[in-house]
Amino acid sequence: MKYQWYPGHMTKAKRMMQENIKLVDLVIELVDARIPLSSRNPDIDELGRQKSRLILFNKSDLADAAVNRAWMDYFAGKGVHAAEVNARSGAGVKSVHTIVQEACKEKIERDRKRGIRNRPIRAMVVGIPNVGKSTFINTFAGKACTKTGNKPGVTKGKQWIRFGKNLELLDTPGILWPKFADQAMGLRLALVGSLNDEILHIDELALSLIAFLRERYPGTLSGRFGIEEAGDNFSILVEICKKRRCFLKGGEPDLRKASSMLMEEFRSGKLGRITLERPEQEKQDEKDM
Ligand code: G4P
Repeated sequence: MKYQWYPGHMTKAKRMMQENIKLVDLVIELVDARIPLSSRNPDIDELGRQKSRLILFNKSDLADAAVNRAWMDYFAGKGVHAAEVNARSGAGVKSVHTIVQEACKEKIERDRKRGIRNRPIRAMVVGIPNVGKSTFINTFAGKACTKTGNKPGVTKGKQWIRFGKNLELLDTPGILWPKFADQAMGLRLALVGSLNDEILHIDELALSLIAFLRERYPGTLSGRFGIEEAGDNFSILVEICKKRRCFLKGGEPDLRKASSMLMEEFRSGKLGRITLERPEQEKQDEKDM
């Protein structure tokens, strides 16, 4: 199975990003807490050069809590501002205001020395499709803010959401294209549902998920489906079919149906909080490079 993103979409996304990033002091990058490596695009390091940066681990409710903490320690160790959020429920979102001020401390200090006071920080949200950018902007904006219209010096048509005197957020997020540095990353993007399932073989995905869960989260499948985690991955998928009564007309197991169901249960958190990428992996990747 080959994972890809269309070059045309990428060029357009990159152009918009380059245009908008010029307008801001701070880039708020959303990553998927279940795949913080694969849901980043390292090009943002180049595009966001000379900008303050903040990484938000969104969908943290779906990711392994212990691994979330390990990632926070990892980034704190690198001096990168990072926080866990759940844009859907709003958990952790309020604290973003404080972290924004911290992430922009140097800029605020520079402004102060130049006699500039109370100039709001301008920020934009960026991330790959489906990572939760729109949900985050809506939750973060809430009701307690005003939208500003066109202003001098701001490209026509851009809308800013204003939060008191300290912060203005561009109301359209920047779309980052997934990087697909290797096929394993493509697979992990597909597993969490960041790629369109129509172009994927759902039963291959399900088999990869089964293999991963058996290795990293043993007991998850037996707990959820009441099956033995013995034999090969294919026979486990067949067992899941039987338990969930997924049969074709002739009584054969309906592997596609069981696979779709398994993937849905994983993606919506019904199998528990599961993370596919850990900080040790990044260290390994650095060594491999
Ligand atoms: P995007 O702008 O980056 O493309 O993403 P968007 O906000 O549209 O969010 C994509 C999906 O992810 C939405 O689900 C959204 O509800 C969900 N989501 C966003 N943040 C979180 C989070 O922190 N936790 C969880 N569990 N889900 C989150 P959807 O099924 O496409 O839409 P809906 O059913 O919520 O309307």
